[in-house]
Amino acid sequence: APSPVFHGLHQAGVVTPAQPHATHVALDVLATDRAGLEDLFRTITERARFLTAGGVPPEIGIAGPPADSGVLGPLVPADNLTVTLGVGASLFDGRFGLAAHRPPALTAMPAFPDDHLDPARTHGDLMLQLCADNRDTVVHALRDIARHTRGGMQIRWRADGFIAPPRPSGTPRNLLGFKDGTSNLHVDDRAEMDRFVWLPASSWEAGGTYMVVRVIRMLVEFWDRVGIVEQERMFGRRRDSGAPLDGDHETDVPKFAEDPVGEAIPLTSHIRRANPRTPASEPSRILRRPYNYDSGVDEVGDLDMGLVFVCFQQDPDKQFAEIQRRLAGEPLVDYIQPVGGGYFLVLRGVRDATDYFGSGLL
Ligand code: HEM
Repeated sequence: APSPVFHGLHQAGVVTPAQPHATHVALDVLATDRAGLEDLFRTITERARFLTAGGVPPEIGIAGPPADSGVLGPLVPADNLTVTLGVGASLFDGRFGLAAHRPPALTAMPAFPDDHLDPARTHGDLMLQLCADNRDTVVHALRDIARHTRGGMQIRWRADGFIAPPRPSGTPRNLLGFKDGTSNLHVDDRAEMDRFVWLPASSWEAGGTYMVVRVIRMLVEFWDRVGIVEQERMFGRRRDSGAPLDGDHETDVPKFAEDPVGEAIPLTSHIRRANPRTPASEPSRILRRPYNYDSGVDEVGDLDMGLVFVCFQQDPDKQFAEIQRRLAGEPLVDYIQPVGGGYFLVLRGVRDATDYFGSGLL
């Protein structure tokens, strides 16, 4: 498939329907001055422009290394690839003379009460989200960008994700077995996106959005020993159908107002805490775009898998963190462990063939 158009007011990879494969790569900038940073951003832009369009890499003499890794063969397909670039608060720490330009909403991700954050998997000067229809396309894009930016930035941590096909229908499932993404903002509703996701005109960030990444491990060995009724009460939905516990179908809207004491859907359930559907909770809505991850085993032989939770919003504290504070102490916390992640500002899109990432800032 061709990729979403690269040039425009907004970057692709936010409202783009989630492709099946992704990697989220946090990087630290090695360039030491503003000129080096601009150079880096221009190179990332050029690579993203080529990779998302696809094409034939340039030929070079047989003496040198080939221009392309060859992972995708001689013709690089676009394969619905999106390259989405975000910047972390640490980019504004003074190394590049940008301290005065840090938007107040761009802070380092705080640690929440139930977090087990590993510094080696947390924060970063930059966040590169690569998504595509196939895993080799994601790997190829990462290798291409890493190769062309050598010396300018280095990988700090990385989380690879996948989305399963619908089983048997409806929204894809996460690795706790539940459909994940049933109730979400609507990416094709322009007004909703302008209200909750895209940053409004009037600043250099206009057209961008804030991205929160949370690498959340699932303690699946424990989870698999929990009874189905208890599992369903933790989420407030049926596992098989995805229907709310007071409904029959996945798309039925839960009627919290008619159930003030939580008889059908417990007050502590994930969906009730995450979205109480009250006027007061309305401004904290977010666009979720999560991926499953499966990373082998830990040092004691437990499976290392979970959710790369990704969400987009205008303000990480008033939206994501507000929800996170409501979720504090939910029954699900015994079965999940946030281990990493960060807050990033997704820059506005690259306007045209002469523009580059960060041009409004640098
Ligand atoms: C809904 C799973 C973490 C926010 C849901 C649903 C599931 C789920 C199964 C119900 C289906 C749906 O409407 O999508 C999980 C798992 C998590 C996790 C397994 C961790 C491993 C989070 C976090 C947040 C969050 C960290 C935000 C701070 C939401 C929201 C909804 C939701 C806003 C929609 C509620 C609604 O509108 O009814 N989640 N979630 N979730 N989750 Fe999570």
